[in-house]
Amino acid sequence: MGHFNHIIRLCVVLIAVVIGFFIVRGFFFSVSFGTYGSYLYGYHRGNSDAEQENMYALYQGTEKCAKCHEKLIKESRAGGHAAVACEACHGFWQAHNKNTKDKVPRDTTVESCMRCHEKVIGRPDFLPQINSFVQHMKDQEEAFAPDLKCIDCHNPHVPL
Ligand code: HEC
Ligand code: HEC
Ligand code: HEC
Ligand code: HEC
Repeated sequence: MGHFNHIIRLCVVLIAVVIGFFIVRGFFFSVSFGTYGSYLYGYHRGNSDAEQENMYALYQGTEKCAKCHEKLIKESRAGGHAAVACEACHGFWQAHNKNTKDKVPRDTTVESCMRCHEKVIGRPDFLPQINSFVQHMKDQEEAFAPDLKCIDCHNPHVPL
């Protein structure tokens, strides 16, 4: 019987630790965290859904550009790049949004075209592909020069 008091004390300490754990945990966990209340969301913070929905989308789509670049978009819609989003080449809208005078990236390099037009096994047929720049120039019976660029012949907005 001499140990009974020790066991009681140990239990009191353990209960205090468990209660303390839940109190401290309460400060760190959001109320919408699923394990509170109804368990509706499971292991998930309910409020994060609304937060995600309200995040600003970096990519806004070609419609956004149409507001101010109407003429260019009209031209582009009539050509072979009608299906290619402006932001695929110019980067996401937000960079431009903050201040329209900010320079928008416009990559004029050969690589910027080849990332879509280089022949790759498995690339879909609707995407016209060339084996290499040198071969393309041979096929077109044009002289190849190292400083030649795709956009010397193709308008990036209306490529053909
Ligand atoms: C609120 C109007 C507006 C919208 C929307 C807009 N632009 Fe512009 N953009 C302008 C204006 C004005 C200029 C001309 C700025 C200048 O000449 O310095 C410009 C210039 C540019 C340039 C040339 C930049 C340079 O360095 O000379 C590019 C590329 C461009 N916009 C791409 C886009 C794309 C892509 C979108 C859609 C994601 C877009 N813009 C949406 C107003 C807009
Ligand atoms: C295939 C890549 C590509 C796509 C898609 C594209 N652009 Fe461009 N854009 C370029 C390149 C490259 C230049 C720079 C051309 C140069 O310097 O000769 C440019 C230049 C521009 C300019 C500067 C003015 C001009 O006419 O040179 C504006 C504005 C512009 N683009 C807007 C747009 C808009 C709006 C769209 C969507 C309809 C779009 N671009 C789609 C590659 C693209
Ligand atoms: C983001 C991918 C992408 C980039 C980058 C891109 N293109 Fe294209 N391009 C396409 C697609 C997709 C088509 C075919 C569209 C269709 O047939 O609907 C196409 C079609 C073309 C065509 C054939 C047009 C026609 O009327 O048959 C040419 C030429 C072309 N692109 C040149 C270029 C050049 C030059 C560049 C670089 C400035 C470039 N492309 C960058 C996706 C791209
Ligand atoms: C010296 C001018 C010139 C240069 C530079 C050039 N092309 Fe072309 N390209 C042409 C001509 C001409 C055609 C054929 C147009 C036609 O068939 O009506 C063509 C056609 C194409 C086509 C369509 C092929 C098809 O099968 O429908 C693509 C894609 C293309 N070029 C991409 C490129 C890319 C990418 C570059 C840069 C690596 C480039 N071109 C550089 C002149 C050029």
